[in-house]
Amino acid sequence: MENESKHKLVIIVGSVREGRFGPVAGAWVAEQARLYGGFEVDVVDLADIEIPLALPADSPRSAGDTYPRPAGMAALTSALVGADAFIVVTPEYNHSYPASLKAAIDWHYSQWTAKPVAFVSYGSVAGGRHAVLHLENVFTELHAVTIRDGLAFPNYYLSWRDGRPLDPEAAGYAKTMLDQLAWWTSALRSAREAAPYPA
Ligand SMILES: Cc1cc2nc3c(=O)[nH]c(=O)nc-3n(C[C@H](O)[C@H](O)[C@H](O)COP(=O)(O)O)c2cc1C
Repeated sequence: MENESKHKLVIIVGSVREGRFGPVAGAWVAEQARLYGGFEVDVVDLADIEIPLALPADSPRSAGDTYPRPAGMAALTSALVGADAFIVVTPEYNHSYPASLKAAIDWHYSQWTAKPVAFVSYGSVAGGRHAVLHLENVFTELHAVTIRDGLAFPNYYLSWRDGRPLDPEAAGYAKTMLDQLAWWTSALRSAREAAPYPA
């Protein structure tokens, strides 16, 4: 049976570019999640993590806990292991998501399994729509459950001021996303505790 401890929500800031907007979006999302309640919220900024592009010979799926990750990745791996839920904050780069995010995902496997993933995206005209479509595909491969309702911010440089979206509906959209994420978090944690996931 699920214990009474708060669900652990890890918010991943996916971009590492110089002068990036990612941490601004990540901080606002974390604020919304803390206001929502029920989650213990941790923000992991991929710019703080060592994420080499060259992977070891074995796959993380077959190597399991013995997968040889760099020491500078330990904070990310332990956050993923302990997480009950994720929100990925991603920009759109060339109709997809940044390479930093793909590398961070690919260094792990079981850490994503049977856990829910919600998305907050931003960009120019597309607002990260293509990035999220691609991420939904990727997370399905990892046996994660993607949340239907997320937030997308087109032309964020016009639609945000002083670290917040100008749209007065944005907090309401965040609540809708968090309602769905909380439901799946609870359902999947109970299911993981009841029986091992068959993967
Ligand atoms: C390499 C690159 C490619 C981009 N491609 C797109 C794109 O295809 N669609 C879009 O809406 N915005 C695109 N943008 C705009 C970014 O979404 C915008 O610059 C955003 O701030 C990047 O996120 P970041 O500041 O966290 O790095 C691109 C930006 C970069 C740097």
